[in-house]
Amino acid sequence: MSSVVNKAGETNSVEKAFSAEDIRKDFPILHQQVNGHPLVYLDNAATTQKPQAVIDTLTTYYTQYNSNVHRGAHALSDRATVAFENARKTVAGFLNANKVEEVIWTRGTTEAINLVAYSWARHNLKAGDQLLVSWLEHHSNIVPWQMAAEASGAEVIGMPVTEAGDIDLAALKELLNPRVKLVALNHVSNALGTVNPLEDIIPLVKAETPAVVMVDGAQALAHYPVDVQKLACDFYAFSGHKLFGPTGIGALWGREDLLEAMPPWQGGGEMIERVSFAGTTFNTLPFKFEAGTPDIAGAIAQAAAIDYLQALDREAVIAHENELLAYSLELAQGFPRLHKIGTAKKVAAVFSFNLDGAHPADVGMLLDQQGVAVRTGHHCAQPIMERFGIPGTVRASYSIYNTRDDVKRLFSALEKVQGFL
Ligand code: ALA
Repeated sequence: MSSVVNKAGETNSVEKAFSAEDIRKDFPILHQQVNGHPLVYLDNAATTQKPQAVIDTLTTYYTQYNSNVHRGAHALSDRATVAFENARKTVAGFLNANKVEEVIWTRGTTEAINLVAYSWARHNLKAGDQLLVSWLEHHSNIVPWQMAAEASGAEVIGMPVTEAGDIDLAALKELLNPRVKLVALNHVSNALGTVNPLEDIIPLVKAETPAVVMVDGAQALAHYPVDVQKLACDFYAFSGHKLFGPTGIGALWGREDLLEAMPPWQGGGEMIERVSFAGTTFNTLPFKFEAGTPDIAGAIAQAAAIDYLQALDREAVIAHENELLAYSLELAQGFPRLHKIGTAKKVAAVFSFNLDGAHPADVGMLLDQQGVAVRTGHHCAQPIMERFGIPGTVRASYSIYNTRDDVKRLFSALEKVQGFL
């Protein structure tokens, strides 16, 4: 659908083929009034809304085949197991994993990163090693590394960011050396929307260091197709709820050889092969890392969410969201008090800003009173706020179902906010 040839033989553009208005119809939550106004939901970086297909998948699971996986001797358990493992295949295909066993279900990005920071880092790091972590990171891609460094005597070093909000590649090159054992960075920054050029950064890192590269993909997958083999990263984590799926489900993709060599993390349930007081042996991948009953419904519904997204023209999604950002910049020109935070080379669906003389929390509250939902504050990314010398921002984050009208509503609501503050 990126170009559609009509009966007259003319090629229509991507924008004409893509209809956010049609997509909105699939998302029941969007059709409501909030504080007396039609809802404008611009908090998609915090969590995306769910299409009816995902809600129906959850309902079908719980009404028709709720059962535990991998262990039941009955039909419902078989059905649940097949759907659960098919969902893993969907994720593997979505990320272009080399093998389905490389996909580990987790509660989300945070748990996926913690898994690596515990299992890989604590068994591969030693005193004197260095971990490079970008200043753009969400706390969940900083704190686990600080904990792992403390446990091993390794050192966490911040990867500098330019005034525009891009990773400073020249400064990064200076930091690369054989002592760097891990590089942790996001694909897309949750606070500023910066899209990190992983295709440039990862080869640089690999050329100069023995480091493994951990990518926090939480903010990327709803916007960009990702191919982990092409990226040549070592670990890639995501959360389902930022990808039109339920909360409480996500996944870690890891290179098979690394995952094979890593010890289990949590103990119990599915991760064992045989338990004995004389010694316990562990299951193979991916089950080695999946202790306890997983979020079966969540995983199956996440696959439905991925199917939903995959059925859209991904190029058209990118073009649509870029158009919403461009329109935001255009409307922002009429607001001399508005300062956009972050002007990175490539930005994904995030418009982060401040209004001179107004606290972000007050702006957010007054927008909410007009039915416009945004996030305000430091966005769990305090180092990047520190980098820009600000306590926080107002963040409008867009998704497939947002329209130009939503952007217009944001800015007309901001006009009123300016009058108050
Ligand atoms: N990381 C999520 C956000 O940026 C929660 O809002």
